This record gives sequence, C-alpha cells and structure tokens, in this order.
Amino acid sequence: MSMGKTALIIGANRSIGLRLVKALQARGWTATGSIRVSSKEDESVKDSIINASKAFGSGPLDLLINNGAVGTQHLKWDEHTSENMMRLFSTNGPVQAIKHFYPGLKRSKFAKVINISSGSASITNNNGMNLGYRVSKTSLNQLTMTIAKEARANGDNIAVVAVYSGHLATRMSGFSFSHDMEEYINGVANLMDTIDISDTGRYINWKGETVPW
Ligand SMILES: NC(=O)c1ccc[n+]([C@@H]2O[C@H](COP(=O)([O-])OP(=O)(O)OC[C@H]3O[C@@H](n4cnc5c(N)ncnc54)[C@H](OP(=O)(O)O)[C@@H]3O)[C@@H](O)[C@H]2O)c1
Repeated sequence: MSMGKTALIIGANRSIGLRLVKALQARGWTATGSIRVSSKEDESVKDSIINASKAFGSGPLDLLINNGAVGTQHLKWDEHTSENMMRLFSTNGPVQAIKHFYPGLKRSKFAKVINISSGSASITNNNGMNLGYRVSKTSLNQLTMTIAKEARANGDNIAVVAVYSGHLATRMSGFSFSHDMEEYINGVANLMDTIDISDTGRYINWKGETVPW
C-alpha cells in the first residue's frame, strides 16, 4: 500500500503548524508534526533533531516545513539584548533541521523545503518595530536563497522556498487582528502541491505571489 507523499512539519503542537499538518493530511499527504519538550536545553534540542532524523529511517521525505519560531513582543530596537538576538537567530534559522533531514529529502524524486517566513522579513515593506524578529526572518529568507542555490548547483531536485502564511491570530501574534485562518492555511497547503523546482529561492505569500525582498 502506498504511503502517499511524506511531509514533516517542525513546530506543530499548536497554531499554524498543527493546522498545516491537518490540512496536508486532508490532501492525502502522510504528514507528521514535530513537537518539542520545553524543558530541553539547546544541546538536547540539537540531539533531538539528529535522533528524529535517524528515527525517520531510510525512506524519502517529500516535504519539510520549518514552521517553529519565536517572536518578540514588539520590542523597540534598543530594548533588544544580544541573548535575545541570538535566541531569535538560532530558533528562527533552521539550518540544523534542513541539514539532518537533507538525506531523506534527496531520496525523494522531487522534494520541497518550505521555510515559514513572515511579512516582517521584507525590507521593502518595513514599517519599523520588532527588530530582532525582522532580522531573524530576513536572515531566514537569505538562508532560503543560499540553500536553494547550493542545492541547484549540486543537481539536487529540491526546491527551497520561503512562504509568508499571512497575519493569523496565534499565540505569537498575541491573537491580534487576523487574516482568515482557514483560507490562508488552505492557501499554504495548496502551495505544497503546486510548488515546483522553478520556484526554488522564491519568497512568496499564501497565494503563491512574490513578496518583495
Ligand atoms: N501568526 C502570524 O501572524 C505569523 C505571521 C508571520 C509569520 N508567522 C510564522 O508562522 C510560524 C508559526 O507561528 P505561529 O503564529 O503559529 O506561532 P505560535 O503559536 O507561537 O507557534 C510557534 C510554534 O513554534 C514552536 N517552536 C518555538 N520554538 C521552537 C524551537 N526552538 N524548536 C522547535 N519548535 C519551536 C512552538 O512550539 P512550543 O510550544 O514548544 O514553543 C510552536 O509550535 C512561525 O515561523 C512564525 O514566525 C506567523
């Protein structure tokens, strides 16, 4: 019996991540969501990525969605500490997750790495505030483009794309004003079927439209 296309969504205990798992399952994907044990220290978290990638086994991974992230409660630029900046960078830049799941992605005929970005990543659309989060998400976009270019240069059939899922009422956004949750999650889930290799390195929204860097 076919397992269907396989997907792993990192950071899926609630909100956008959990909804994406459900939306993909409804579309026939064999979708798994990861959750973390909140008491774990950084080293244990790194180990847990390695252990999870080993536990995933030797099958192909068709889709990796890097959704897990932390925000800052609308701090002014001079309220950021270096510890705060480093935490945002290390959590919101999923290099290790991509690295350890890359062998599984390479075993897919065509795989996708989707980095859940943000409208806040855009330098063009910057309206101030939230420096640390903005910088971490702009850096995620740079990470997306860089890995996309290297994957292509290596002949890997893997599209790496940054996707802005809309402004949605979640814990991170303080359950503030929102786009329509169902419409936007469905938009992102639909993209998982339509993104192809020509999309690699793009920064797009839930409708597949280009967002200005
Ligand atoms: N909501 C919006 O309006 C909005 C707008 C633009 C972009 N986004 C992006 O959408 C994604 C999901 O955010 P959300 O709004 O659903 O926020 P959320 O409700 O705060 O959920 C964040 C998720 O990330 C996980 N996470 C946090 N730190 C992690 C770590 N070190 N390792 C693994 N997972 C970790 C959380 O798990 P724990 O419970 O274990 O912390 C949780 O599952 C994020 O990338 C965010 O930047 C959201």
